[in-house]
Amino acid sequence: MPHSVNPALQPNTLKIAILGAAGGIGQSLSLLLKTQLHFPLKTNSTQRDKNHIHLALFDVNEDAINGVVADLSHIDTPVSISNHSPKTGIEDCLKNCSLVVIPAGMPRKPGMTREDLFTINAKIMSSLTDSIAQNCDLSKVFVLIISNPVNSLVPVMVNRLWSKYPQLSKGTNIEKRIMGVTKLDIVRASTFLHEVNIDADITPRTNDMPDVPVIGGHSGETIMPLFSQSRSYKSLDRDQINYLVHRVQYGGDEVVKAKNGLGSATLSMAHAAFKVVNKFVSLLLGNVDQIHGICYVSLKDADGSPIAPGAEQLLKSIDDCSFFSIPMSISKKGVTAIDFDIIDRMDNYERNEMLPLCLPKLKNSIATGSKFGSQD
Ligand code: NAI
Repeated sequence: MPHSVNPALQPNTLKIAILGAAGGIGQSLSLLLKTQLHFPLKTNSTQRDKNHIHLALFDVNEDAINGVVADLSHIDTPVSISNHSPKTGIEDCLKNCSLVVIPAGMPRKPGMTREDLFTINAKIMSSLTDSIAQNCDLSKVFVLIISNPVNSLVPVMVNRLWSKYPQLSKGTNIEKRIMGVTKLDIVRASTFLHEVNIDADITPRTNDMPDVPVIGGHSGETIMPLFSQSRSYKSLDRDQINYLVHRVQYGGDEVVKAKNGLGSATLSMAHAAFKVVNKFVSLLLGNVDQIHGICYVSLKDADGSPIAPGAEQLLKSIDDCSFFSIPMSISKKGVTAIDFDIIDRMDNYERNEMLPLCLPKLKNSIATGSKFGSQD
């Protein structure tokens, strides 16, 4: 059965691991990756660093992952695929991976906050961090963390690698390549703004969705949608802004409530994650030298120094909050520049009302995650 074989990967293969691939997000994301990953043809295939994509799908639910991979393996695209479970070992899944995407972990039920997931999901993240440290090349691999609470789980992984694997992580700049995925907040902000504009007949019904930067963290008031930076801002009044900000900050609750105990956002999240992964694929295939986007990263390295140009200025503007979601440039080596100017471009409401609410909560979540990650 081709899908159960762990392929001997050719040097020209870009291997992507999805950990938690049998879940709601994992399945939908894997389907998108199997069917929609295209290689932007800027160079011809022989000039590219890599020209084949392999998906290695891992889940602790063995039956589910076997079924998902058997099913996906019948889809007629050149993206190859393999299944991995604790029985076959996570090692084969992670070996030679350039990109690891993590939607493993428990989702919310009605009445739960993302922070309520911390105890169980932090343990999962610690165990996956150990596997990544032991099987991936920490000087090259990128990790995208979807599991919640993102605000704390990215610090869990970064701090665990620094404290438990100092020899393996030292000098690798791994913190420049571990990113929390906050793209769903951007997708929601753009969608909700588009709806308001359509209702007010401001924007014609086109496919040109507004692009709203969302910075900070990924939970409640730590989510800072910057509508002032959107092209349609001038036409919004105070009530509309308040409505939009609240809807983006608590948009996840709408889905949790509607699913009534069956989990949280999966389809919109898979769409958002696909957009992010697609950019990384372009970078890792060698089609582009840099990508730009908004991710949640550590602004400091293991010694406490700023990770990239712009990080020091940002840290000064955000009361030394050490993890933050912010526009950045990324090369194959990781974050190369932080767009700290976006803080200066915020309007008074965003700077004087949203930021003071965001920072203490975000710092608290970071402290919880960092402490957990630094324990044995
Ligand atoms: P799900 O319960 O449908 O899937 C989770 C999967 O993870 C399951 O298949 C489970 O077997 C697997 N799993 C559990 N422990 C594992 C381990 N140690 N190794 C590998 N796989 C493991 O949950 P769903 O809906 O896919 O959500 C996954 C996570 O994503 C949740 O924590 C959720 O809160 C989060 N999420 C994040 C969003 C974001 O914007 N970053 C948006 C929506 C959800």
